[in-house]
Amino acid sequence: MNFISMRSMGVECIEEVLKRAKDFDKSVDFTNVLKNKILGALFFEPSTRTRFSFQTAMERLGGSVVGFSSAEGTSIKKGETLSDTVRIIAGYTDCIVLRHPKEGAAKLASEVSPVPVINAGDGSHDHPTQTLLDLYTIRKNLGEFDGLRIGICGDLRYGRTGRPLSIALSHWNVKLYYISPPQLSMDRGTVRFLKERGVDVTEVMRIEDVIKELDVLYMTRIQRERFPTEEEYLKFKGVYVINRDIMKMAKQEFILMHPLPRVDEIESEIDQDPRAKYFEQARNGIPVRMAILEKAIKE
Ligand code: NCD
Repeated sequence: MNFISMRSMGVECIEEVLKRAKDFDKSVDFTNVLKNKILGALFFEPSTRTRFSFQTAMERLGGSVVGFSSAEGTSIKKGETLSDTVRIIAGYTDCIVLRHPKEGAAKLASEVSPVPVINAGDGSHDHPTQTLLDLYTIRKNLGEFDGLRIGICGDLRYGRTGRPLSIALSHWNVKLYYISPPQLSMDRGTVRFLKERGVDVTEVMRIEDVIKELDVLYMTRIQRERFPTEEEYLKFKGVYVINRDIMKMAKQEFILMHPLPRVDEIESEIDQDPRAKYFEQARNGIPVRMAILEKAIKE
């Protein structure tokens, strides 16, 4: 099966992945679940966590990985289209994981690929495997989703992690707080969609106004590379910084998350706070992506 967008993923599928990830999390042993299977990893944008965790997950499952981490050195440079590249790699492998700067790239790939396609990020649009590991991290630390108050802060316009996380959380009874400058707010279509699904959404500009209420604060970086100009980016650089003063205002049973990489939005002194969960969150990418790969290739 494909993993393309959070909108098209049912709650049963989400639950199956989270449950299976828990099994993989119990043991770090290698398995033969995907023995003799090959993953094609096509990364047209920079990546550290997503690419390495997919690779590690595939190898832990007994499979192997081929691919590239930039279009340099491939026939894309000669003018080959994404569709043709996908068709060719699909002929060599059992599954494709694709990261691409264009919104809709993974969907397009899934339409021409005879093997399953996993979206590892398409422009500012979606990043469903990140969402699954985010959900896994929330549940592991706080138990159930129902009743949680979750803040998502930073660049909600160009970022691709806050939107699918919100859409996934709309399967439960949560309250969402969007914290951003108005120019970087969540798109109206997504806010409308969430409200139609019965989610209580509050939009504010200042972290200080809501931090006391939150069970989770999900920080995101200002997406420098997606701004039309560097000048535009500089207007928002450093607009939110989590420091000791902010953490003092948060509850004891609160967790601080971030998909990473962080730039300047969480001070490094916060890393020692037991409520800072972003490194654990990144580690959870392994069992969660093991579950995703198994499901993608076997179903
Ligand atoms: C995110 C991404 O690529 O969207 N990174 C990740 O996969 N952990 C977040 C980001 O780049 O800001």
